Order: sequence, then structure tokens, then C-alpha cells
Amino acid sequence: MRRVGLIGGQVLNSLSPAIHNFLFEKYGVRGEYGLFNVEPDKLESTIYELVELGYTGFNVTTPYKESIIPLLHEVDYIAREIGAVNTVWIKSGKMIGYNTDCYGFLQGIKCTVPDIRFNEMTALIFGAGGASRAILYALNDEKIKHIYLCNRTFSKAQNLSKEFKNVTPILWEERENILCKCDLIVNTTTLSTHFINLINAPHNAIINDIIYYPTDLLQQRNGINGLSMLIWQADLSFRIWFDKCVFSN
Ligand code: ATR
Repeated sequence: MRRVGLIGGQVLNSLSPAIHNFLFEKYGVRGEYGLFNVEPDKLESTIYELVELGYTGFNVTTPYKESIIPLLHEVDYIAREIGAVNTVWIKSGKMIGYNTDCYGFLQGIKCTVPDIRFNEMTALIFGAGGASRAILYALNDEKIKHIYLCNRTFSKAQNLSKEFKNVTPILWEERENILCKCDLIVNTTTLSTHFINLINAPHNAIINDIIYYPTDLLQQRNGINGLSMLIWQADLSFRIWFDKCVFSN
């Protein structure tokens, strides 16, 4: 029996078990996906317990994606660049950290718009937290032309924009004025209720809300729901954990 799971602050309603149980069945792996609510002072002892129990790996979610990094033996290049880990593979007792959110986000868009050309696009990203940083990294890596970064707390948008090329911070009050220039609009905030009117966005703009339940943004226009990012990040986590036993024969 292969065991994996999810650690975070509040994970008991997570959709991850459903996704991974589907993948276990699809690839014929006898596996189990557990959920672990962890108090901050128990983070280190919990992950070492998972190693002791013979876990193959685990996912990490809010609020531990950043704070777990110093506790790991190795962190891969992309996760280190983004500064956040959402997947840990336990290989011969060593914990190796990865970030699959970045891949999940891009794959969700590419599956919906296969001929997308990021290098000809301007994006507007709402939010300047951890999810925003992973998405800025992903879009930068795809050589997007320009990004406007809009956040309620402007100083956070300013600080984050300095870490990337071609990112301009935008005041929250300016959010509707900038819409007409943008081909890709992404919500990474936790806001699911009305916070912007999309009337001025180009009719062919791609709208992506990384929240995976129905939101106001996607009620105004059709677009990409966060479920696609959730599924694709899980798919890559699964391949990191079970590559050898499932995919290489
Ligand atoms: P994550 O790790 O998922 O990105 P986070 O780091 O807590 O989560 O970031 C949450 C984002 O939602 C932030 O950009 C936050 O804006 P602030 O930096 O101003 O806090 C944004 N957010 C949360 N509640 C909001 C609200 N009521 N109005 C506007 N933005 C909000």
C-alpha cells in the first residue's frame, strides 16, 4: 500500500483525496490519500512522522507552502525560485520539495486554449500572495509580453513586481481602467464575490479564476475555473511520487 496525503491548516474539506483516488484507480496503484490538519508548532514533527511511517510523499497547502522549505533535505529549482513547495517526495528517507502549482496553472490554460501565444499577450493578475507569485513565475517563463499586477495592498504589488521582468503594479482603484489592455485576466485573491465589472475587458480576453467553486467573475464571462489548476497540479504530484512504478514500464 502506497501512502500519500495533504498537510495544511484546514484541509478536511479538500478535493485532493477524490482526485488522487481517481488516479490510483486509473493507474492501478494500491494507494491511500490522507488528510492532516497540522498546528504550526507540529509541522516539523508531523512531516518526520510521515517519513517514519513510510509515506511516499505528501502535498502541502496554506499556510505551510513557504515555511516547510527549511525543513526539507532538497528543494527543486522551480520551487526554490517561486519560494513555495506544494509537493514533497520522500526518497530513501529524504524529503525533496517541488512546486506543481505553476505547471497546474499553465496546463489548465493550455488545455482550454491549445494555440495560446503567451508572448503576444498582456495579463492582469489580481492578488499578490503566494499563488500570485507562482503564476507570475509561470507566465514569465512562458515569455508573456507584459503583466499588470493589481492588489488591494499596493505595497505588496510593488514588492512582488520588483522580483520579475515586465510587471507593473496597479492600484486597486485602477482595476477597471486597465481591463481594456488585457488579454488574460487572472484572479488569485480569495474574493469570490463581485469585485470587478468585466464590461471593459476585450471580448476575447481569457478569464481565469483560480478559485475552484463558482465565482462572480466566471458568472460574468465564461472562463477557466480553478478546478483545472487543482487537477493538473495533482497530476504532476502523482507523477513525481509514482513515476517509476506506473509510467516508466
Ligand atoms: P494565497 O497564498 O492563496 O495567494 P494569500 O497569500 O493569503 O493567499 O493572498 C490572498 C490575496 O487575496 C492577497 O492578495 C489579498 O490582498 P492583500 O494583500 O491586500 O491582503 C487578497 N484579498 C483577500 N481578501 C481581499 C479583499 N477583501 N479585497 C481585496 N483583496 C483581498
